[in-house]
Amino acid sequence: QELKLNIEQIEKGGYDHFMLKEIYEQPSVIKDTYRGRLLADKGIIKLGGLEEYIPKFINADRIIIVACGTSWHAGLVAEYIFEDLARIPVEVEYASEFRYRNPIITENDVVIAISQSGETADTLAAIKLAKEKGAFVYGICNVVGSTISRETHSGTYTHAGPEIGVASTKAFTTQITVLTMIALKLAQVKGTISKSDYMMHLRELDMIPTHVAAALKSNDKIEEIAAVFKNATNFLYLGRGYNFPVALEGALKLKEISYIHAEGYPAAEMKHGPIALIDEHMPVVVIAINSNHYGKVVSNIEEIKARKGKIIAVVTEGDTVVRELADYVMEVPKTPESLTPLVTTIPLQLLSYHIAVMLNKNVDQPRNLAKSVTVE
Ligand code: G6P
Repeated sequence: QELKLNIEQIEKGGYDHFMLKEIYEQPSVIKDTYRGRLLADKGIIKLGGLEEYIPKFINADRIIIVACGTSWHAGLVAEYIFEDLARIPVEVEYASEFRYRNPIITENDVVIAISQSGETADTLAAIKLAKEKGAFVYGICNVVGSTISRETHSGTYTHAGPEIGVASTKAFTTQITVLTMIALKLAQVKGTISKSDYMMHLRELDMIPTHVAAALKSNDKIEEIAAVFKNATNFLYLGRGYNFPVALEGALKLKEISYIHAEGYPAAEMKHGPIALIDEHMPVVVIAINSNHYGKVVSNIEEIKARKGKIIAVVTEGDTVVRELADYVMEVPKTPESLTPLVTTIPLQLLSYHIAVMLNKNVDQPRNLAKSVTVE
């Protein structure tokens, strides 16, 4: 028993929980994921599993992404980046809905299955269905040799290393890293991105580990914010564009490990329902980074403030406008909008982590949840 405890302590590498260790590993595992695949100075992206299938992707009628849980959120981020940069229509589906819906799939569709474990039963069933209908299926898995990695026609591994915490963290950001590389590669070959924009994206992607490390420096501040809101019974998470899926993921993290009810919403949808819930007891986490939507998000923040909601905002370093309006801010470094999910996710992971710890919850093994869901 004692020996087992010690081994676990060593595995946690000095952190109190696997989840915290995995959050802090993100700068290095994101780098591991693009190492040898992204050569920013030379303008090269080379993904072994992708090269020979590039024409399939480029000529596809559409890309259908299937996944569950956090991996589904990575798929939603990919929808923005694929459509924005590579101009390929994308649909993102919950694997469990897709498989039972009698979906229309043809040989001209490319299906991307995203799965950390590579064992999720619903995702696996969706892959089998897509293959039966003749679609080309590409996998993005973390666990090498997993069932999904074997059942797909080709794919790319994330190199996140073992993820032990049930709440997914580093798997999510490394999935987005892979999806971003695929989108950039396709955009370059298709000619939907200018040379300078392409080069800029490569250089900026190469900076992401540094930016994530900088975002992690707000940990103490985030812990203080967690202490203020740990007894709230509801949270709202809002984001727009690329950061709408991040709002969903932030809310999911809080639900999973702290058992606090949280909902993620596209910021503009607030007026169609959630605004009715806002009063002085409602903390609202708003992703209000410098982006195309900044002005609109600022208006949303003003609306929340007018109803006395408590605002916790994720802002770009140096922001002054939102800082004035919000009750608390969590800063992230500036990066192109298409890459922002990789940094805005970080403070939300830390916020949920600290709240769960303060509430004495089992952070690494939350009740009722499993790391790998091999039953439907
Ligand atoms: C479970 C896990 C989640 C994960 C989801 C999908 O619900 O608790 O963290 O996002 O399954 O898992 P996958 O391994 O397919 O990414």
